[in-house]
Order: sequence, then C-alpha cells, then structure tokens
Amino acid sequence: MGGRMVRRLLAAGHTVVGYNRTAAKAQWLVDAGMRLAPTPREMAASADVVFSMVTDTAALEAVARGADGILSGLRSGAVYVEMSTVSPAAIRSLAGDVRARGGDILDAPVSGSVATLDAGQLSFMVGGDPATLERVRPYLLAIGPTITHVGPLGLAASMKIATNLGLAVQILAFSEAVLLAEKAGIARERAVEVLLKSVVASPMIKYRGPFVLGMPEEAWFNVDMIQKDLRLALELGRSVGVTLPATALTNEMMTAARGMGLTEYDFAVVFDVLARLSGLPPSAKPATSAR
Ligand SMILES: NC(=O)c1ccc[n+]([C@@H]2O[C@H](COP(=O)([O-])OP(=O)(O)OC[C@H]3O[C@@H](n4cnc5c(N)ncnc54)[C@H](OP(=O)(O)O)[C@@H]3O)[C@@H](O)[C@H]2O)c1
Repeated sequence: MGGRMVRRLLAAGHTVVGYNRTAAKAQWLVDAGMRLAPTPREMAASADVVFSMVTDTAALEAVARGADGILSGLRSGAVYVEMSTVSPAAIRSLAGDVRARGGDILDAPVSGSVATLDAGQLSFMVGGDPATLERVRPYLLAIGPTITHVGPLGLAASMKIATNLGLAVQILAFSEAVLLAEKAGIARERAVEVLLKSVVASPMIKYRGPFVLGMPEEAWFNVDMIQKDLRLALELGRSVGVTLPATALTNEMMTAARGMGLTEYDFAVVFDVLARLSGLPPSAKPATSAR
C-alpha cells in the first residue's frame, strides 16, 4: 500500500524520499523517481511531512522508535502522518515523542484495497488537530479523494478497526450464502453472480466475492493480516465494553483457515473452512501458487 501511495505522490509531481526495510522491494519506485533513504531517520530528516505505512504495531514501533527510527530524525515543525492499521494506544504513545521534537502527528488509516488505491479512490479517516490536517491535505488528496476528520488523535485508528471487522464478517456471511445456494442445487458460479447483483453486494463484496470461485495469485489481504485487525477489534471491544459476537466467531473461522494451512491466501479463503464443513469443494487456487 505504501509503495503504491508513493507512486501516486510522484505522479502528482511531489518530491518523495522513501524508506523500506527491504530496499530491493522499493527499486521500482526509485526507477519512478523516488529517492531512497538508507534509514527511517534519514528519510524523516529530509522532509517536512512524513508518512508511515507498515504491517502492524510492532512494525510501527520498529520504524518509529528503533535505532535510526523516524523519531530520531523528525524535523521541528514536521507533521508525522501514521497510516497503518494499528492500535490507537500505539498512536497516542507516539504523540508525546513527536511533540517533544517540535512536530505534530495525525493518524490517517485508509479504507480500500490495492485496487481502490490504484483507481485513485482510497478513503482516509483522520484523527488529530484539524489545522494540522489542513497542512497535509494536498498530499492526502494526491493519494485518495475522500478525507473524513473523525476527532482527536487515535480515533481514526479506532474507526478503522471498527470498519475492518465488517470486511471479515461480510465475507463469512457471503460464503454461507454461496454454499447454502450451492448445496440447495444452484451452481456456485450462478450463486455468486446473483449475490453480486443483489443488495448484499457491498463495494468490498463486489471485488472480493469472486475470490470464492478462484483465489488471486497474490493475497490482497491475507488471513494473518485480517486476524491482526480482528484482534485489534476484540481488544478495543473489551476495553470499551462492547460485545462483538460476530467478530469473535469470524476470528475463530480465520483460525480454522490457518489450521488448514491457508494463512497466506486472501482472507476470502475462509470460504474453504465452511465448504469443508459442508462437504463441498474448496475455492479454486492459481495453478502457479506455491502454497
Ligand atoms: N492491503 C490492503 O488492502 C490494506 C488496506 C487498508 C489498510 N491496510 C493496512 O496498511 C498497512 C500495510 O499493509 P500492506 O498491505 O501494505 O502490507 P505489506 O504489503 O505486507 O507491507 C508491509 C510493509 O511493512 C514493512 N514492515 C513490516 N514489518 C516491519 C518491521 N519490523 N520493520 C520495518 N518495516 C516493516 C514491510 O517491509 P518489507 O518490505 O521489508 O517486508 C512493508 O514495507 C497494514 O497496517 C494494513 O492493515 C492494508
């Protein structure tokens, strides 16, 4: 996601200095005009606006607070925009260190897939000072057109976690519907076609639903990643006192997918868990799949 964001920033004419832990994976961006910094510290020291987009809270800690991390290079007056889906507590704990260096921080997680991003349709949820958001709005708009300020720092992360539980719960319900229709006598392909034309076809179901017929070569968001988000939701639910029964059940089904060796597939592979329990064949896998 971060690399594709850089591509959009470059295409909009912005100067980008980037860092990736595995430098070779950023070569295509260097070829497109990005300057590669050897450490997050040097990247942060080169810019007035810093974005981070990494896997999870542990990765954020590594790039922000590690040796030669972002915090050690952040310029006074800089804005640090954290876009990963991580715990609100991790964002809030960064704020003190960012402000001690004379900077400000926003949480700006995103909703949408790699395809949404490439189509220029990504949505941002933003937490933090509205005046700070105005300073970085042009950069965010170069990446995606929808920016919603949700409240003080950390609340965008909370909103993102609340949003993402729906992805997993929806795909589980979609899988149930396909398998029920199939076992009742309707061809799987026809059941998918009808559901995708029905009112249950959310934007996410429209692009991910067809995966139950054939998994993509590369997971768009694998089982590990969705379980990261489901765990964040269950933790937040426990801490604020909201029961999340559908999330808890879906998380268990994702654990079953892992148990079946399906971790690296897109999380739509949870279909296979239900298919196996129902005595029906799993989703088709790409011929070249090494998994
Ligand atoms: N993919 C989506 O559809 C989507 C949609 C919305 C939000 N998100 C969120 O966006 C974030 C990034 O997701 P993604 O799909 O872009 O994941 P990804 O393709 O797996 O990229 C993860 C990035 O984090 C880096 N990273 C991981 N652990 C690290 C560590 N310990 N130290 C330094 N760097 C580390 C990786 O570096 P290496 O290249 O060296 O491994 C890579 O640059 C996640 O929080 C995800 O939940 C994703």
